[in-house]
Amino acid sequence: MAIDPIDVAIGLLLGAGALAYFGFASFAFGAGYQPTPRRAVEAMLRLAEVRPDDALVDLGAGTGAIVFRAARIYRARVVAVEVEPIRVAVLRLRRRLGPFADRIEIRWGNLFGLDFSTATVITAFLWPGAMERLRPKFERELRPGCRVVSHHHPIVGWTAVTHDPENHVYLYRWPEAGGSPPAATRGT
Ligand SMILES: C[S@@+](CC[C@H](N)C(=O)[O-])C[C@H]1O[C@@H](n2cnc3c(N)ncnc32)[C@H](O)[C@@H]1O
Repeated sequence: MAIDPIDVAIGLLLGAGALAYFGFASFAFGAGYQPTPRRAVEAMLRLAEVRPDDALVDLGAGTGAIVFRAARIYRARVVAVEVEPIRVAVLRLRRRLGPFADRIEIRWGNLFGLDFSTATVITAFLWPGAMERLRPKFERELRPGCRVVSHHHPIVGWTAVTHDPENHVYLYRWPEAGGSPPAATRGT
């Protein structure tokens, strides 16, 4: 049976589209993939003083460098949000194979659509543009006392409680970090 060149072209096009989506979608959403180095993960979780009663949200969880350590060593409850489906599959597999699966929730989706109001700790290793977009969302949604820990990129306009220059870690505590109060309480 002869293969129709149109079918081949459609197949190639679909393949290229899927490859582009799987490989590069996260660039459009806020950051490409690069796992947080182990030392930086440790510095982030230690500086944020993560405890078993914390609800930690990792924004752009990748393959789980922060997620699994926070659940396994610090015993926190963790929500991992990740936009890229192959990395979500890796996260789900790691959760299934490892201990503390009940402490880890994995969400496939855009972190900008997530409600942050129940988080007590937020971790992020995203690009500066994403941090800039996140700031007003943090200011609207974070509960008082929430710690935000960012690897590599600061939150411009906020004041860090602690900066670990060796591991490129910035720790913020809302609302002491500064920024604008939520519109509802402004001027009241
Ligand atoms: C630099 S990696 C950090 C991975 C992980 N947090 C870690 O520490 O190893 C950034 C991750 O964020 C994901 N990402 C980027 N923009 C996103 C968005 N808008 N929503 C969800 N995930 C996003 C990327 O797919 C990538 O896996």
